[in-house]
Amino acid sequence: MRRFTACATAVLAGSLVLAGCGSDASAAELSVSGAYMPQPVSDSMAAGFLTITNEGGTTDELTAVSSDIAGSVTVHETVDGAMEEADSLDVPAHGRLVLSSGGNHLMFEKLTRKPSQGEKVTVELHFAESGTVEVEMPVEASTYTPKTGN
Ligand code: CU
Repeated sequence: MRRFTACATAVLAGSLVLAGCGSDASAAELSVSGAYMPQPVSDSMAAGFLTITNEGGTTDELTAVSSDIAGSVTVHETVDGAMEEADSLDVPAHGRLVLSSGGNHLMFEKLTRKPSQGEKVTVELHFAESGTVEVEMPVEASTYTPKTGN
């Protein structure tokens, strides 16, 4: 809020302060919500879902994911009902990247152990602009669906 006020002031003044203000407010500002992993049915594979919100003015990119429970974590897109590995996914400026059941998702492969409901799995999200963001992803029932569809 303080930042918003400062920007408004700079705009009103019409001064070069605007440039400084712009560079400050334009950085990607990420937050993660709604993370969960349905308890995997398979011994070797699991999926993960979350929403990444970017309140900043710069588009960021989710470029890689890692976790101590999996030998490999990739980002999958669902295109025409089929999964495809994505090199990266954009988190648009003032927008969000939604990974949800039936759509984009995290794919955990080569599980080092099988997570069960009630546990939390630590996942590291790597972004082009924002660096690494660590997320504690709760493991839910295999049939779990989020109450608020985001
Ligand atoms: Cu997949």
